[in-house]
This record gives sequence, C-alpha cells and structure tokens, in this order.
Amino acid sequence: MLDAPAPSAPGPAIDALLDWPAESLPALATLLALRRRWMTQDFARLRREYEAAVREHGEPASQAEAEPMVQSLPSAAGFQWLHRHIQDRTWRLCERIVADRAAEVAAAMEPAGGDLGRLEGTEGLAYPAYYTFDYHRQDQGIWRSDAGAAIYLLGARVVHVGRNSDFQLHDQFADEIDMDRAPRVILDLGCGFGKTTFSLKRRWPEAEVQGLDLALPCLRLGRKMATARGLEIAWRQADMERIPQPDGSVDLAVITMVLHEMPASAIANTLAECHRVLRPGGRLVMLENRLIGDPFRDTLLKWYSQLIDEPYWEPYRHLDLAAMCRDAGFSEVRQEKWYLAGTDGPAAEADPRRWCTPWGRTTAIK
Ligand SMILES: C[S@@+](CC[C@H](N)C(=O)[O-])C[C@H]1O[C@@H](n2cnc3c(N)ncnc32)[C@H](O)[C@@H]1O
Repeated sequence: MLDAPAPSAPGPAIDALLDWPAESLPALATLLALRRRWMTQDFARLRREYEAAVREHGEPASQAEAEPMVQSLPSAAGFQWLHRHIQDRTWRLCERIVADRAAEVAAAMEPAGGDLGRLEGTEGLAYPAYYTFDYHRQDQGIWRSDAGAAIYLLGARVVHVGRNSDFQLHDQFADEIDMDRAPRVILDLGCGFGKTTFSLKRRWPEAEVQGLDLALPCLRLGRKMATARGLEIAWRQADMERIPQPDGSVDLAVITMVLHEMPASAIANTLAECHRVLRPGGRLVMLENRLIGDPFRDTLLKWYSQLIDEPYWEPYRHLDLAAMCRDAGFSEVRQEKWYLAGTDGPAAEADPRRWCTPWGRTTAIK
C-alpha cells in the first residue's frame, strides 16, 4: 500500500502556493514509498550480503577497508542507482509544480509594502568558488532565481522522508538550545528560506533575529514566509566567511545543515568569524550529520552524499569540528548526538541492521 503524505493543514498563502498540490500527491507518495523501501528492505538485503561477505573474508577494520567490500556486493549498484533516481524524480516533480504556477509564484515573491522585517541584498556579491554548484542535484540551484528557491522549499518539505514538512526538526533544535540568558541578538548563518530562523524568532520573540545567506531568492522567500507567520526578521545577503556584524555584538549564532556543503578552509574562516562577532560567553550552536562508527553504514552515508552531489559532505564528516572550534578561539566545546523527537533514533543507531541518519549538535562557547 502506498503511504500517502497527509496534505499540510491550511496555512498562510505563500505556504499554500508552495505546498504539494493534491494532484501531485499520488506521484509523491510513490517516491516516498520507494525511498522507505530503499531504507528498509533494500538496505536490509545489502546488509545481509555484507554479513555473508564478512563471514567469508573477515570484519573490515575501518570504513576505508569496508568500502571496496560493500561496493562488490550484488545489490550495491542497484541500491546506489535507486537513491539517485528518487532524488532526480523528486526534483522533476517539484520543478513541474513550480512551472505550472510560475506567474503566481513570481508575484507572491515580489517585496510588498506590508512585508515584515528587512531584506538587504549585496550589490556585486562575490560567491565563493565552492558555492556555484548545483548541490543536491537541484538543477540551477537555489541562488539563481526565485523559482529555484520555490523548488527548494517543495523539496525541503519531503527530504526527511516527509517527516519535516512543517519544519518540526528545526523547531526542536531551536527549542533545545541552552543559553545562560535570553539572547538579544541572534544570527542564523546559511539560513536558506528560514526554517531555523522562524524557530529562533518564535522561541525568542523579543530578540533581534537575522537570517544570513548567499542566496537572495531564498531570503526573498524567507521574508514572505516570515511575514505570513507574523515574524519580524532581518534577512541579509552575506557570506558567512565575512559576517557583516561588529565584534562582540551577537549572543547566539546558529548554523544548521550548512557546514557539510563547505570545504574545510571555509569552515575554519566561518568559525573564526563567529568567534569574532560573539560576545564573551556567547554561543555558537551547530547541527550537522556525523559518522556512526559502523564501517558498513558509514560507507552508505558516503555514497548517500556523493550520489546527491554533495562533494564536501564526506570530508566534513571526518573533520574534527571540536578541535577547529578550539583553534578558532572558543573556550568550551560540547558535542552530542542529537535525535529527532518521535523517532526511535538511538535504537536505530544501535542496530547495525537498520538505516540511521546520525545528527550531531556542537555547542561552542566564547
Ligand atoms: C542545506 S541549506 C540549509 C538551510 C537551513 N540552515 C536549514 O537548516 O535548512 C544550506 C544553505 O547554506 C547557504 N550557504 C552555503 N554557503 C554559504 C556561505 N558561505 N555563506 C552564507 N550562506 C551559505 C546556502 O545558500 C543554503 O541556503
């Protein structure tokens, strides 16, 4: 039976315009059902083949040793192909939905008199070389046009197998941030269209919340979505390697799901910038994927990122982010495993026969 996603509750107009229309739900349900099959049955078959290979050749000592072994399993090529196929089919569907309502989307994203907060573009902004690449295999990316941002929003509603359509993951992340006192100035770096930014402003309505990103179309969309939610946020087009903010002026900086798209040198520059703009005692809190420590599943995570065109994700997972934070000057660094509420994440991680998406939260205090 197909596991159809529930249509979202009626919401603000921009959300309704950029949600999955009823007529697309059967096609989407097929893709989500395929993805679930891939993460359960197909994964389990590959695991059984791996265990048979281990019985024959012995346990690999590392991810590097496991990889050629996993690659040679009979189901490996099909497993990889299906992942890329689902990704590409999902984008084609998103593109068609946005193309079908192109005029309405263009009109809905134009700044208007009643828009809340501020939006600042940066004339002649130089994009870093690593950035001008179509991450996630989204054709034309998220930064070239408003349509790209709209397509990204549709994709973002289903990327966690449909479990984050209202950005619950980001709400949980923001709600769990531990501060010594209520922050007055908050930066969401690499905010995209604002999933974490909305959550931060909801948690600390009195604070000045800024969303920074290189992609102006995402910021335009974010401001519209924030307006529909009654949230006053400052949206600024900027490179997080050069944060346009005075020294010591920020209480909390957050980065969710961005560092894995950056080379190590850009991450080091970003950490140094965060350290510069934070006040003494201010915090930087980051949410990213991490390694599991199981050579088989870490190999699959490597494929996962490579097959959806994430060139820096695998190198990122092997970086020592805590050491990099200390090198940037942070005095205290904590790293914790992080799980999405309502899922049995710890149990899935402990069981090598189950798929696991491992999240990690890093908190660095200046
Ligand atoms: C995968 S999205 C994550 C968006 C959001 N933080 C979330 O949690 O969903 C990565 C975002 O980082 C932005 N980004 C990447 N490199 C950046 C940089 N150097 N400066 C500012 N934004 C950047 C991209 O434009 C994109 O919007």
